[in-house]
This record gives sequence, C-alpha cells and structure tokens, in this order.
Amino acid sequence: MSTNLAWLLRLPLILAAMVVQVHGLSPPGFLSLDCGLANKSAYNDSITGLLYISDSGFVEGGLSYQISANLMDQATNEQEKTLRSFPGGQRNCYTLPSIPGKRYLLRTTFTYGNYDGLNKTEDGSLFLFGLHIGVNLWATVNLTNSGNSTNTFWKEVLTVAPDRFISVCLINFGLGTPFVSSLEMRRIGDSMYPFVNSSVSASYFSRLRFGAVDEFISRYPMDSYDRFWERFDNWSYPWVNLTSKNKAMSSPPANHCDDFSFSVPSAILQRASTIESNFSWFSITVEANSNLQSETMELIPIFHFAEVGDVNGGARRTFDLSVDDEQLLHNFTLPATSPVTKFDSSTRRRGSRARIVLRRSPGSDLPPLINALELHSRVWMINLTTASGDVDSMESIKEKYMVTRNWNGDPCSPRDYTWDGLNCIYPNGHQNPRVVELNLSASGLRGEIATSFMSMSSLEKLDLSNNNLTGTVPDYRLYSLRVLNLSNNQLIGPIPDSVLQRIVAGQLDLRFGML
Ligand SMILES: *[C@@H]1O[C@H](CO)[C@@H](O)[C@H](O)[C@H]1NC(C)=O
Ligand SMILES: *[C@@H]1O[C@H](CO)[C@@H](O)[C@H](O)[C@H]1NC(C)=O
Ligand SMILES: *[C@@H]1O[C@H](CO)[C@@H](O)[C@H](O)[C@H]1NC(C)=O
Ligand SMILES: *[C@@H]1O[C@H](CO)[C@@H](O)[C@H](O)[C@H]1NC(C)=O
Ligand SMILES: *[C@@H]1O[C@H](CO)[C@@H](O)[C@H](O)[C@H]1NC(C)=O
Ligand SMILES: *[C@@H]1O[C@H](CO)[C@@H](O)[C@H](O)[C@H]1NC(C)=O
Ligand SMILES: *[C@@H]1O[C@H](CO)[C@@H](O)[C@H](O)[C@H]1NC(C)=O
Ligand SMILES: *[C@@H]1O[C@H](CO)[C@@H](O)[C@H](O)[C@H]1NC(C)=O
Ligand SMILES: *[C@@H]1O[C@H](CO)[C@@H](O)[C@H](O)[C@H]1NC(C)=O
Ligand SMILES: *[C@@H]1O[C@H](CO)[C@@H](O)[C@H](O)[C@H]1NC(C)=O
Ligand SMILES: *[C@@H]1O[C@H](CO)[C@@H](O)[C@H](O)[C@H]1NC(C)=O
Ligand SMILES: *[C@@H]1O[C@H](CO)[C@@H](O)[C@H](O)[C@H]1NC(C)=O
Repeated sequence: MSTNLAWLLRLPLILAAMVVQVHGLSPPGFLSLDCGLANKSAYNDSITGLLYISDSGFVEGGLSYQISANLMDQATNEQEKTLRSFPGGQRNCYTLPSIPGKRYLLRTTFTYGNYDGLNKTEDGSLFLFGLHIGVNLWATVNLTNSGNSTNTFWKEVLTVAPDRFISVCLINFGLGTPFVSSLEMRRIGDSMYPFVNSSVSASYFSRLRFGAVDEFISRYPMDSYDRFWERFDNWSYPWVNLTSKNKAMSSPPANHCDDFSFSVPSAILQRASTIESNFSWFSITVEANSNLQSETMELIPIFHFAEVGDVNGGARRTFDLSVDDEQLLHNFTLPATSPVTKFDSSTRRRGSRARIVLRRSPGSDLPPLINALELHSRVWMINLTTASGDVDSMESIKEKYMVTRNWNGDPCSPRDYTWDGLNCIYPNGHQNPRVVELNLSASGLRGEIATSFMSMSSLEKLDLSNNNLTGTVPDYRLYSLRVLNLSNNQLIGPIPDSVLQRIVAGQLDLRFGML
C-alpha cells in the first residue's frame, strides 16, 4: 500500500525564505488588497504589520461598501470593515500581477456584516456565489444561514501563475450578490506543495496546528508565507500538549537539502499534541462545513511531525497513521532531531470528512504525536484560456474604445462567461479557444479602426456598423475574415487593395456606406 505513496520528505529546519518583518513593509511577492477601502488608499495593518492597499486598481466593476455601522466595533481587523460588492455582471474579475510559472497562495475573505441591511446570512434564503481562479471553478462561497454576520469566511487556493497575471473572479449564480472583503496574494517557494502544477491547483480544506496555542489563527509573521493555521480545539482527555523548551528546531542537519519542502514555521514544529503514555491511539476528525462543497473533492492529506518531547534517553515514537481506514504510515519511527512531512497525493479520497487515526506500534516507547496537518482538494485546471494573441487584441480594443460593457476576465473562457458580442471556437484537446466573431455594432466607437481588429487571425465576422468610426479602411492582412460590416460610420474611401482583392476573389463580404 505504501509503495505508491508520494511520501518522502524531510523538512529543512530553516525556513527557505526567512523574511524579517519590517513593520509596514510587505515581503516581496506579497500583495494585500483591502476590498472597498475608500477612506484612504493604504494602511499598515496593526495586526500583521503588512501594507494593505485599496483594491480599486485591480478590478473594474463593483461598488464599495462598509459593514453595517452598528457592527463596526465588532470587526476584529481593518479588512473586515469594508468590502466590494458586485451587483452587475455574471462574472467580475480581479487581475493580479504575477510571475509566470511561480507558485502563489491566494486568499479571499468574506465578512458580510449586513452591509446591505438585508440580513442575508440569517434570513434562511440561499446565499451563494462562485470563485474562479483563472477560467476554472475553484470554490463556492456558501453563506446561507451562516449566522452572525460579523463572522469571517475565507477561501484559499495554491496555484501556479500561468501568465504575467492571475485572475480571480466572483461568479453570480443568481443566489445573492457576490462580494469580497479582502484579497491576499503570497508568493510561495518554487518547490513548495509539489503536487500543485500548471494543471492542478489546491483548494484549502483545512490547516490545523496542535499543542498549546493561544491564537485561534496563526499567520504572518509567524508564518513567513502567511498561511492560516487554525488551532485544533476539539481537545479532550487523554490528549496532552507538548511544547519543546529549548530544543533547536532551527538548524538543518548538513547535507539535508530536499528538493521540496513545506517550510513549516518553527513555532509550529515546537508544539505538538500527544496522549497520556498509557493510551495507545487517538483520532482527529476534520469535517467540511456547509461552506465547502465536498462531494466532488479529491483530498490530499499532509502531516507535519517533529519530536518535541525530551527523548535524550533514546526513547522513540513508532506509529501507524490511517485516513478513513486507509493506512498511510506503517510502523513509522519519528526521527529524534529532524522534522518530517508526509503527504499522499496519489489517492482520490472523496467525501465531506476525514478521520485520521494515529496508533502506537507495539513496542514503541512513546505514543504518537502530531504538530500540524493540512488537507487540500485538487482543482483541475482543465478549462483553457483564450489564445494570448486574441486576448491582447481584445484588451487593446477594449482600452482604445473604452468599452464599458462587462468585458471582464478571459474573453472566451469558460464558455458560459464569454464576453458580450464575441463568438469563440473551442477546439478539442489542447488548443486554446479563439475569437471567431466580434460584434461591436452600435457601441459608440469613435476614432479610427484599430489595428488590433485585423491581428486576430481566427476572426471570421467583424461587425463595426452604426458607430462613429472615422478615417480610412486600413490596408491590413485580413487572414480569415469573411464578413466585414462597416456601414453607418464616417469612414472615407478608397478601399485598399488588400481588401478589394479578397472581395473580388469572393473571400470577403464587405458592407460599407451610409444609410
Ligand atoms: C507603513 O510603514 C512604513 C514603514 O514604517 C512607512 O514608510 C509607510 O509610509 C507606512 N505606510 C502607510 C500607508 O502608512
Ligand atoms: C470612513 O469615513 C466615514 C466618514 O468619516 C466614517 O463614517 C466611516 O466609519 C469610515 N469608514 C471606515 C471603514 O473607517
Ligand atoms: C434585519 O434584522 C434586524 C435585527 O434582527 C431587524 O431589525 C431588521 O428589520 C432586519 N432587516 C430586514 C431587511 O429584514
Ligand atoms: C469549464 O467550462 C465549462 C463551459 O463553460 C463549464 O461548464 C465548466 O464548469 C468549466 N469548468 C471549470 C472547472 O470551471
Ligand atoms: C457576533 O459575534 C461577535 C463577535 O464574536 C459578538 O460580539 C456578537 O455579540 C455576536 N452577535 C450576535 C448577534 O450573536
Ligand atoms: C499535474 O499533476 C497531475 C496529477 O498529479 C498530473 O496528472 C498532470 O499531468 C500534471 N500536469 C503537469 C502539467 O505537469
Ligand atoms: C492544550 O492546548 C489546547 C489548545 O491551546 C487547550 O485547549 C488545552 O486546554 C490544553 N490542555 C492542557 C491540559 O493544558
Ligand atoms: C471531537 O472529538 C470527538 C471525539 O474524538 C468526536 O467524536 C467529535 O466528532 C469531534 N467533534 C468535531 C466537531 O470534530
Ligand atoms: C493513565 O495514566 C493517568 C496518569 O498517569 C491515570 O490518571 C489514568 O488513570 C491512566 N489511565 C488508564 C486507562 O490506565
Ligand atoms: C449551502 O448551505 C446551506 C445551509 O447550510 C445548505 O442547506 C445548502 O445545501 C448549501 N448549498 C450548497 C450548494 O452547498
Ligand atoms: C517496527 O519497527 C521496529 C523498529 O524499526 C522493528 O523493530 C519492528 O519489527 C517493526 N514492526 C513491524 C510490525 O514491522
Ligand atoms: C455619432 O456622433 C454624433 C455626435 O456626437 C451623434 O449625434 C451620433 O448619434 C453618433 N452616431 C452613432 C451611430 O453613434
């Protein structure tokens, strides 16, 4: 059973990218947006020390709100106080700068705060919307009956940047107006979370830390990547907290350079939960709440262990670990001096809960312990983005004519959210969608005909009629164009040769002239 598991790694004890916190400065690769922030454009967060800026430069649509005035004093941080809501459009996207091929953690938070006065999280009506990472569904945000409207929910995804930007989109399902309170982007190490690649992202299910911990959520600066680690709270006898007093969890043994790691913060490696030594096993149950659509999840479990106890006498912990009765570790002996991470990305575990059992092996000196665990669900990035040449052309057309319709996110993909006025083809297999028809009739276009129209090499029909376009018909290669409607503009002749030749050859149907 364990042979086909992707086990392996030991953590280098030092964090790969130790970032010294400088108050008010964000580490490289961090972008923190406080959505709907309007009273100021930026601030240094008093809790994390990170610089938060307004989201207004990263999104086109939406309206800024703040949570209900009578709930303001219940906000536990600045980000909860304001939000951006998207009453218009089926899909609204944030565009975040990224380095192609690098790994990022993206997190969105949602504090409803009864900003619209409709008590939507308490009135029993369905309140849910979707999140896309690029052109793929990443999560559903289900705030139906989520109660106290000052509660904060979050969604997180680990993904590889496909391009110079990553888009994060909110999708309106017609079941409540999508909104978002904050959007955080953190670049993580190139070798972290090795099961994430360009076709697989990982959506957060759970990330727990064990032992005696004060804070409900541990994050930056304790974790230099600002992951959220929740304190495990379902504590009962015979559980025991272990805290290493002086044990060095900070210097890696020589020649111990694995090619990937999870960079677990040393504070997490210094605390663990175990059981009284006369007991032999304990279990941890992780359950999806209604905010996680769990039926289709393929969960990837990750376990972090470090010997925290005083084992100078050579005492060892040897144990088995199983997830939902499937054994993932057999007779595993925890090394005395170096932390270990074990994960299993091979199985396709599905379901809304996972029951993890740690059982002492016969003959083990000590009972099992655990420092932290993570569960992620696989997100297959199967929907392809529009061919980049077409994306560039469409973006420059949008910019030149200041098109105000909801042209947001990827032009063709996913199919259900194609830009208004576009028709695309979706070749099977591994080819990106292409734009084949563009209808910008009666769209208030002014100025000359943009060169970008003619650089879309799959475009077959272009309708620019009933606008105020001026100048001449440009002499461009028209590639695949079969129908070009320029009627009812202020264009002047003559028709260039390249266009005439195609007309004469019967390859192009040109409509030109005034009513
Ligand atoms: C945040 O703190 C840094 C360093 O102290 C300072 O330079 C910067 O002006 C602060 N930014 C804001 C928006 O207050
Ligand atoms: C923004 O400023 C207004 C007017 O001063 C104030 O009423 C409101 O509470 C402020 N909002 C936040 C989120 O601080
Ligand atoms: C929302 O709830 C508050 C307090 O329960 C109530 O006073 C208010 O009328 C409700 N608003 C709506 C629109 O139902
Ligand atoms: C991919 O696109 C199709 C068609 O628009 C859509 O039905 C499907 O939900 C998309 N898949 C994902 C994972 O987003
Ligand atoms: C909502 O939660 C806050 C913070 O936990 C608490 O102070 C407040 O009393 C709660 N409100 C309601 C109506 O339960
Ligand atoms: C990503 O990982 C999945 C599953 O582990 C694998 O099937 C797929 O081929 C990988 N994709 C790339 C582009 O490496
Ligand atoms: C162990 O730590 C947990 C979490 O901080 C706490 O709830 C529990 O009371 C602690 N147990 C003991 C015996 O100190
Ligand atoms: C808490 O732990 C008990 C005993 O291990 C288990 O039966 C119960 O389901 C757990 N509760 C939650 C909310 O996970
Ligand atoms: C285990 O040991 C603890 C303290 O050492 C004791 O209180 C408890 O009764 C023992 N339990 C069993 C099942 O032996
Ligand atoms: C959303 O949550 C509600 C309340 O918990 C639940 O009844 C409903 O089935 C959930 N819907 C989806 C699509 O997850
Ligand atoms: C478990 O490991 C120990 C030490 O590595 C070994 O002595 C013992 O035979 C193993 N037990 C089983 C059941 O494999
Ligand atoms: C062209 O511009 C003029 C003057 O601004 C305006 O009256 C007219 O309606 C516009 N025509 C079209 C087709 O948009």
